[in-house]
Amino acid sequence: MNKAILLITSIVLASSSPAAAEDQSLAHAKTPKTPVEAYPKNGCIACHASLPGKLSQAVQDWSASIHFQNQITCDSCHGGDPDIAGQPDNRQAIDSAHHSLKGFIHRPKPASKVSYFCGKCHVAIMEKHLGSPHGENTHPTCIYCHGHHDIHSPTTGIINTERCTVCHDFKTAERIKGLLEDTEAQIQKIAEQAKWLEKHGYKNLALEEMHEHSKGTVTQLRIAFHSFNLRDINNFTNQITTVAEQTVRTVDLIQNKSQAAEFQTLIGLGVTVYLFLFAVFLMGYKRHFLNHHGSAKSKSGGFAN
Ligand code: HEC
Ligand code: HEC
Ligand code: HEC
Ligand code: HEC
Ligand code: HEC
Repeated sequence: MNKAILLITSIVLASSSPAAAEDQSLAHAKTPKTPVEAYPKNGCIACHASLPGKLSQAVQDWSASIHFQNQITCDSCHGGDPDIAGQPDNRQAIDSAHHSLKGFIHRPKPASKVSYFCGKCHVAIMEKHLGSPHGENTHPTCIYCHGHHDIHSPTTGIINTERCTVCHDFKTAERIKGLLEDTEAQIQKIAEQAKWLEKHGYKNLALEEMHEHSKGTVTQLRIAFHSFNLRDINNFTNQITTVAEQTVRTVDLIQNKSQAAEFQTLIGLGVTVYLFLFAVFLMGYKRHFLNHHGSAKSKSGGFAN
């Protein structure tokens, strides 16, 4: 019985207007969950959220990060036991949550350990970084460039004189930054062109495959970038340039073709209009001529009744 009512209610709900559903999701988006609401069962977040200074700043910074959005919680990075709940002054709870037997790491020390700390998940990037001049010298580390709690989707803005001239000049860094930015601009262009092609009903498997490939190549480029090896980086940027050039050529070709087609319809339309006007002229002329002729005849009285 209850089930039947529930079913009916859910059908009524499901068939309510999509606008209402949209409003609901908008309202939802306007009031984002606090970190504690988002992870009600995670003891690290609950306790740290009510601690002073850096201990709760960690929660705030992390809650704006890409890791927060991807369910990477405190314990994913630091280890420890997230199931332990307790008041902020409960020493026993604190110590059990932070227990070394649960793999707890306060902070990766010395700095050379940062790569492995983050590289637990970002394996390919860790390997490139370790093989780079930076990895060999243990500095700068992942967190020097990305931060530790407030990590966002990275941009080339990370590479700047303030951050990169502490230990050496900016020449090679600037070149690498230029390569990355050129490539990203090209990828954007490819995406726009692909949209244009799709809008004009042009679907081509080979081209689609190339776009997929170039998207994958960007990810590979972002990984390879961490080697700071110009030859590796150039290899990927060249691949993307090739795809960009091929896309532009295809679009040009189609644009030329459709321009030619438009031109033809224009001529066609011109001819029709011309023929129509000519017909109107002929009819007018005929009527005028007939009238003229007719009145001439009536003057002669030939056909008058
Ligand atoms: C019951 C409260 C409580 C819980 C639960 C808790 N912490 Fe803590 N945490 C603290 C306090 C208090 C400190 C300050 C150092 C201390 O008193 O041991 C701290 C310190 C830390 C530090 C180190 C700060 C530094 O400067 O070295 C890290 C990292 C940390 N906690 C992570 C976690 C993680 C990860 C979890 C969950 C697995 C967790 N905490 C669970 C209360 C808690
Ligand atoms: C992406 C991995 C990652 C996540 C997720 C993360 N931390 Fe950290 N945390 C670090 C690193 C790395 C350090 C050390 C930074 C350093 O050495 O400068 C650190 C340092 C800290 C510190 C010392 C104070 C500071 O800011 O340097 C505290 C406290 C802490 N973390 C608590 C937390 C809590 C609580 C959470 C969850 C809300 C959390 N961390 C989530 C990587 C992480
Ligand atoms: C010298 C600065 C620097 C260091 C050190 C560094 N990164 Fe990066 N990382 C960047 C920049 C800049 C980008 C963005 C490149 C772009 O936009 O093309 C990036 C991109 C990334 C990305 C995004 C990849 C993608 O597919 O979009 C991840 C993940 C990442 N880094 C993780 C790490 C980790 C883990 C480490 C340490 C092992 C590390 N980085 C070390 C500067 C750095
Ligand atoms: C427990 C696994 C885990 C650990 C440890 C971890 N990350 Fe992540 N990281 C992820 C996941 C999952 C994402 C989101 C999916 C993605 O973009 O790869 C992510 C995303 C990122 C991004 C953005 C990538 C993008 O494409 O926009 C950066 C930068 C990053 N992490 C850097 C770090 C750094 C620096 C550390 C160490 C302090 C670290 N991560 C530790 C799992 C982890
Ligand atoms: C803590 C010091 C330090 C910082 C900060 C640093 N580097 Fe480096 N970098 C080094 C060392 C050490 C080497 C290897 C020796 C050398 O070439 O100077 C190196 C080498 C390089 C190289 C290859 C050598 C070359 O010039 O051809 C590039 C490229 C580079 N770094 C880029 C960057 C970028 C980009 C940043 C900023 C995000 C940065 N570095 C920040 C220490 C640093």
